[in-house]
Amino acid sequence: MNVGIIGSGTMGSGIAQVAATAGCMVKLYDTNQAALFKAKAALDKILARLVEKGRIDSEVKKRIQTNISYVERLKDLEDSDLTIEAIVEKLDIKKTVLSELEVYVSESCIIASNTSSLSVASIASSLKRPERCIGIHFFNPAPLMQLVEVIPAIQTSKEVLEKSVGTISGWNKTVAIAKDTPGFIVNRVARPFYGESLRIYEEGIADFATIDHSLKTLGGFKMGPFELMDFIGNDVNYIVTETVFAAFYYDPRYKPSFTQKRFAEAGYLGRKTGKGYYKYDENGSIVTSSTVERFPDEKLAKQIFERVLVMLINEAADALFLKIASAEDIDNAMTKGVNYPKGLLAWADEKGIDWCVSKMDELYNEYHEDRYRCSPLLRKLKKENTTFY
Ligand SMILES: NC(=O)c1ccc[n+]([C@@H]2O[C@H](COP(=O)([O-])OP(=O)(O)OC[C@H]3O[C@@H](n4cnc5c(N)ncnc54)[C@H](O)[C@@H]3O)[C@@H](O)[C@H]2O)c1
Repeated sequence: MNVGIIGSGTMGSGIAQVAATAGCMVKLYDTNQAALFKAKAALDKILARLVEKGRIDSEVKKRIQTNISYVERLKDLEDSDLTIEAIVEKLDIKKTVLSELEVYVSESCIIASNTSSLSVASIASSLKRPERCIGIHFFNPAPLMQLVEVIPAIQTSKEVLEKSVGTISGWNKTVAIAKDTPGFIVNRVARPFYGESLRIYEEGIADFATIDHSLKTLGGFKMGPFELMDFIGNDVNYIVTETVFAAFYYDPRYKPSFTQKRFAEAGYLGRKTGKGYYKYDENGSIVTSSTVERFPDEKLAKQIFERVLVMLINEAADALFLKIASAEDIDNAMTKGVNYPKGLLAWADEKGIDWCVSKMDELYNEYHEDRYRCSPLLRKLKKENTTFY
């Protein structure tokens, strides 16, 4: 299969590696020659390291390298069966590039976008044959993250959806099919992990380290929310939250936080600037302070963990209620896309639907904010005395 990738930055080069490893002939295109050189050098380094570690042999390394060519003209992608666009997250630029691409490629070529936050329907509308357009959303780093969200737009044909799912599954990835709605699955369902943790901090219930500690020790999350926001970058994470909030017509459930906004404005972006919610040394490790070492009392840790967890479960339940994806795909998305220790709907069953509804109602009764409204699906399951699985 011939695969054309537009944009050789972080995501484009990672996707190229995945497709080439699966045996596809890949052409990686970028307008910036330096970005192409950088992508090639980075891939050579990654592959050399994989050989060193014994994960692949030098034959495989050579095959992956020869499977990728680096091209400087969009027209060079003309023989593609599938193209995946991974350029800047700007709707007008994506539309211009994809409508130009459509002139060169065959009628049967699938034109996909790796967009994280834009509407696939809107991107598809730039094409003469919008039914060939689809969202194929990889996670960073693409070669390591197991999940790929596949997002059919309302214009996408059934055949294009089936072919895309088949191709990406064949690349050894787990596919979750998501409705074309803001944040798709992961970037929607994960919002409370950050938002509720920030809110708990803003209310003065606990500091960053205590909140992180609670979610890691009681929840089994690999990173606490503040460590994770520092890792992602407060600028990037804040923009996603703001975009999702606006896209949901300002539903208070997705309201961004002034704390994070100020951190982003101050340039306290996290690991990449050496300072965020924590301080970092040159190796990117947290400079341990007394707060990081302090253990919260058990009751407080439980209160923090349960509040964030039930908000995550509520979000996952609402995504299912609104048919954003199937229960299996929602759970897979969170375990395979962001490494959650358990699927949230399976977690809800484990905690008990009654527990979830009472916890949400407790929060709602305390705050009287729409942010804490319980998903109608949780209430329905409780009424019917049933579970997600
Ligand atoms: N970085 C992430 O964590 C992540 C995760 C999932 C999805 N995405 C999405 O993937 C896309 C790419 O993100 P990224 O982080 O790889 O960006 P990036 O900035 O690392 O790379 C973008 C590349 O596109 C090139 N480019 C820009 N305009 C172009 C054009 N008109 N024609 C050809 N090449 C052009 C740039 O030179 C650059 O090399 C975005 O839509 C983003 O939302 C990013």
